Amino acid sequence: MAPTARDDAVSPGSDPVVEAIFDAIAATAPTIRAELPHRRVESDAAENPSGETVMAGDLYADELLAEALSAVEGVGSYVSEERQEALDAGEDVSEDAYAVAVDPLDGSSNLRSNNVMGTVVGIYDAPLPASGQHLVAAGYVLFGPITTAVIADGDGVREEVVEPDPDAEHGVTRSVVVPDLELPAEPTVYGFGGRVPDWTDPFREYVREIEDELKLRYGGSMVGDVNQVLTYGGIFAYPALRDAPDGKLRLLFEANPIAYVIEQAGGAASDGASRILEIDAEGLHDRVPLYVGNTELVDRLETSLADD
Ligand code: AHG
Ligand code: MN
Ligand code: MN
Repeated sequence: MAPTARDDAVSPGSDPVVEAIFDAIAATAPTIRAELPHRRVESDAAENPSGETVMAGDLYADELLAEALSAVEGVGSYVSEERQEALDAGEDVSEDAYAVAVDPLDGSSNLRSNNVMGTVVGIYDAPLPASGQHLVAAGYVLFGPITTAVIADGDGVREEVVEPDPDAEHGVTRSVVVPDLELPAEPTVYGFGGRVPDWTDPFREYVREIEDELKLRYGGSMVGDVNQVLTYGGIFAYPALRDAPDGKLRLLFEANPIAYVIEQAGGAASDGASRILEIDAEGLHDRVPLYVGNTELVDRLETSLADD
């Protein structure tokens, strides 16, 4: 089994800049959440760098997070799904500052249907684009019935409930509700993106097996679907498609951060052939197929696709 992110973890909370980054993200969560009802329309902005429609909520979250994160001492650059280029935050990432890669609002197509979405962040110790080997921490905020944050910043993964609190230092209280979040050994759920006719034959074969074993839980937002896998065990994928062999999800601010979290929770994260965190990034918006969850299920997936 290849080394995982868990193997080179540092003690949680030991890096004040990483702590400050998660403080800033948690502090924006109630504000983003409060604005969602008013930002459910498509923005009149052009498409995002991935050529996708941009919701007003995407732009609002991006502006707020760019301001909050570039103000953190120790953050040198801000990369976002909504921006073609990195935003220079005034410190030298090749020295000792971090680069943050953010999906400000993952699953924003769920805005109209009032389903879950969230914010994803990867914290890298190298200028971007860079491979997931340079992640020092990663996590996501989930806007569900409850606003939670899932954070991997050292040895393991924790889940926090994030609540607005005007009397608190950052305007929020963060309560750790699961201090050591691990994938359940017994998988229960699966969720696969894309349309069935667009799936490759080897993937459809694999899905037929999984359908007999697990329950379908697909909500159209990676953070929501991954959180179900983390909670109940199983597998999430946005697979390679016939006409899109690189799938849909972006490496720097979707696949890598989720892969880091899932590995630290004891699971595996693959692009169908190799470990997500070892993929070299060429551009800020590279796409990769993403298969994450219980190691046994991911291993079986890689075997199925290799038989192609
Ligand atoms: P984003 O809203 O940041 O563009 O991400 C949407 C992604 C991901 O959250 C989800 O897994 C996938 O798009 C859903 O794609 P489909 O709508 O094709 O199912
Ligand atoms: Mn996304
Ligand atoms: Mn997004």
